[in-house]
Formats: sequence, C-alpha cells, structure tokens
Amino acid sequence: MKVAIDGPAGSGKGTIASILSKKLNLVNIDTGATYRCVALASLRNNLTLDSKEEIVKLSREIDIKIDLDNRVYLNGEDVTDEIRSKEVTNIVSPISSIVEVRKNMVDLQRKMASNNDVVLEGRDITTVVFPDADYKFYLDASLEARAERRFKQNQEKGIDMSYEEIFENIKARDYNDMHKEVGALKRTNEQIYIDSTNMTIEEVVSEFIKIIEGDKNES
Ligand code: DC
Repeated sequence: MKVAIDGPAGSGKGTIASILSKKLNLVNIDTGATYRCVALASLRNNLTLDSKEEIVKLSREIDIKIDLDNRVYLNGEDVTDEIRSKEVTNIVSPISSIVEVRKNMVDLQRKMASNNDVVLEGRDITTVVFPDADYKFYLDASLEARAERRFKQNQEKGIDMSYEEIFENIKARDYNDMHKEVGALKRTNEQIYIDSTNMTIEEVVSEFIKIIEGDKNES
C-alpha cells in the first residue's frame, strides 16, 4: 500500500505521516529530509546557490538513509536535528528547485519505498513520485496557522527563529515550492483535500484513517 501526502510547509504532514505509519504499520518516508540533506551537504562544502553543477554532483554522491525511527543519516552521520536548522531551512527550497537534484532525489525516494507499504510526504508525491499511489492527500492549513505550529515546534526543539522570521520563510517557500519548473506543489482533482487549520492532530488522523479504512471495508 502506498499513501501519498502533499502539502505546504507546516501543514502537519510530518506529524500525521508519523502517526499513520505507526497505526497502519507503514514505513514513513519524509521526502523533504532528502532535500534537506543535499542542502546541509552543500553548506558543509561551502557551495552557494550559484554552484549548481557542484550541488547536482553532490546530490548524486552523498549517501542518505532514513531508518524506521525516522532518524536521518548523511554519509552515515545522524543529521536528524541539523537538517532542521535555520541555515538549512533558508536554502532548501531553492536547492530543491534544481531539476537534476530533484531527479536524483525522486529516484532515491522510489528506491526507499520499493517493496514496502509506505506513507510518503512531500510536495510532488501525488503528482510525480507516486502518481499511482493508493491514497493521495493534499493537507493544507492557513499560512498563519502553519507559522504558529512551526514556531511552537521550533521552540520545543530549541531552534531560535522568531514568529515573523518563520512566517516570512514559509511564505517565501510556499511561493517557490508552488512555482517550480519541475515537481511544483499542486492541487489536483485526484487528491483528497483536507484543511487542518481548525482541526486538532487527532481529528486530522481520524479523518485519514476513516478514508483509508472505510475504503478497505468497502472493497
Ligand atoms: O517538508 P520540508 O519542509 O522538510 O521540505 C523542505 C523543502 O524541500 C521544501 O521547502 C520543498 C522541498 N521539497 C520538495 O521540493 N519536494 C518534496 N517532495 C519534499 C520537499
């Protein structure tokens, strides 16, 4: 079974995918983490956004792994926390706009998902990575709600970013993520649309489960 979830930054995809994976016994693949690893590796190699060719080469050479506890490894090193840093967050969207980087990451994501029942979350899962997924969701929320959620999450993780800084970062990423040449975040008629602005996490999870389980019971 493949469950695909797309949506903008802070819409709750990560939280929902993680809970669903446990409840439905699925492997959880956070595809944003793969782009964040390319961004971190680029920073560590002092590459700026002008060095596209080097970034593409790096995206081919680095080893990215995500384990069953959702820990993320870059060339064997646990970078789960470091890929959420402000520095990575600020450059990840333009890095993920590089077409060849996307090609390498999409190949990797498909490989990670092969032979497994999976839930994948990202921006182009329902449209590019697995357009034939069994369930395709678009999880949304207002910009204000998403900035507020990310602000609270960052505070818990000790990441020092003001609400205004997060609001502007998410707004800029929304625009960039929706206007990419390849793999842009899009709404389609095939997705099940859920707006979580005024919903609790439990309510969103139960909506997902109702759709997935309800469908199973019908067939
Ligand atoms: O989900 P996230 O915020 O960790 O994702 C980080 C960035 O990676 C996001 O700004 C857009 C990009 N991304 C993408 O282009 N395609 C995906 N499938 C997932 C993430």
